[in-house]
Amino acid sequence: MSEAWQQRLADARAHRQQTERWRTRQVAKNNTLDFAGNDYLGLTLDPRVCEAQAEGARQFGAGAGASHLVSGHLEIHDALEEALARWTGRERALLFSTGYMANLGVLQALADRHTAIFQDRLNHASLIDGAALSGARSRRFHHRDAIDLNSLLARSECAHKLVVSDGVFSMDGDIADIATLVEVSQQHSAWLMIDDAHGVGVLGDNASGCVGNTWSSKDVPILVGTLGKALGTAGAFVAGDTELIDHLIQFSRSYVYTTAQPPAISAATLKALEIVQGEPERRAQLNANIAYFRREALHLGLALSDSATPIQPLILGDETRTLGWALHLQQKGIQVGAIRPPTVPKGESRLRVTLSARHQHDDIDQLLAALHHCQHQEALCSPCA
Ligand SMILES: Cc1ncc(COP(=O)(O)O)c(C=O)c1O
Repeated sequence: MSEAWQQRLADARAHRQQTERWRTRQVAKNNTLDFAGNDYLGLTLDPRVCEAQAEGARQFGAGAGASHLVSGHLEIHDALEEALARWTGRERALLFSTGYMANLGVLQALADRHTAIFQDRLNHASLIDGAALSGARSRRFHHRDAIDLNSLLARSECAHKLVVSDGVFSMDGDIADIATLVEVSQQHSAWLMIDDAHGVGVLGDNASGCVGNTWSSKDVPILVGTLGKALGTAGAFVAGDTELIDHLIQFSRSYVYTTAQPPAISAATLKALEIVQGEPERRAQLNANIAYFRREALHLGLALSDSATPIQPLILGDETRTLGWALHLQQKGIQVGAIRPPTVPKGESRLRVTLSARHQHDDIDQLLAALHHCQHQEALCSPCA
């Protein structure tokens, strides 16, 4: 490596390490209690989903072999798109390989320098990156602040305005006020895009998310959902009217220039979707777990954020404190996300606790006991012992 490059990488590393923001990967162990993932309904290990994936591979092959527009668009992809469209009450749906690619692909295909994009400040990184890639004029409005959004929209002279928000905010767990976003967007003739990555499978009528069957494509023309969270598999979809989907098939570069999702994943997702719709008791169990965790955590005096979803952040402030708590939990065999800047604003580092239908009360009790220990120990030493 040239000296200049070596220096550049060393500087970046030193800066991250000094600020306790250096990320490391842990190889997940089977016996770890996972309160960090997004498998909200416990479907990743469901034998029926795993078997559907195995059968999908046997029937369609291990990979799609080409992009959708060449020869990689298989019958199973088509069947999944139709099922996702029906589920979310849209005319059509389009499969992407990941949620990150879906968001890049939608924004790049729809927006250009003659477009103004208005995003909630806490939107997911893929939406921020998609807006940058599109070359559009980008504005961020204060989190869930319709007055701020309204005034930004009122000042814009762009003919094409696009309002973009997470449905469930991925690091905070709170839910966008869809009714207000619809109203404000329509007042300014703006299109509305909701990324409901953490809402589909968990919220709303028939678990179709915080937009799904509740809001039509007239209100929310662009709906994104991901399949690697509550659905337990991988990939994402965009749902909307035929004109939108046809446009994305033509112009969305992260759709066109990539190999189609392995068909076995689509087969597994179809099975997962059937389970999500047919077994509402999973959601009931998830909601009971959320309620139990919140009740007990608040009882212990833990300062939980105001979230009704499986994402339950415990904001601890600085990076060192957050890492200390996460390390203690890890030593107890419990995995929780230690989320630090730049993922969240400076001073708002947090433990991102996520609940799943697969957790037992005993699992949650172990988590609570470990959090309680940190609470008590940190007065004596930091990071906690
Ligand atoms: C709100 C939101 N959108 C998009 C994504 C990206 O989805 P994927 O993991 O499928 O790339 C995520 C997850 O990381 C997310 O939280």
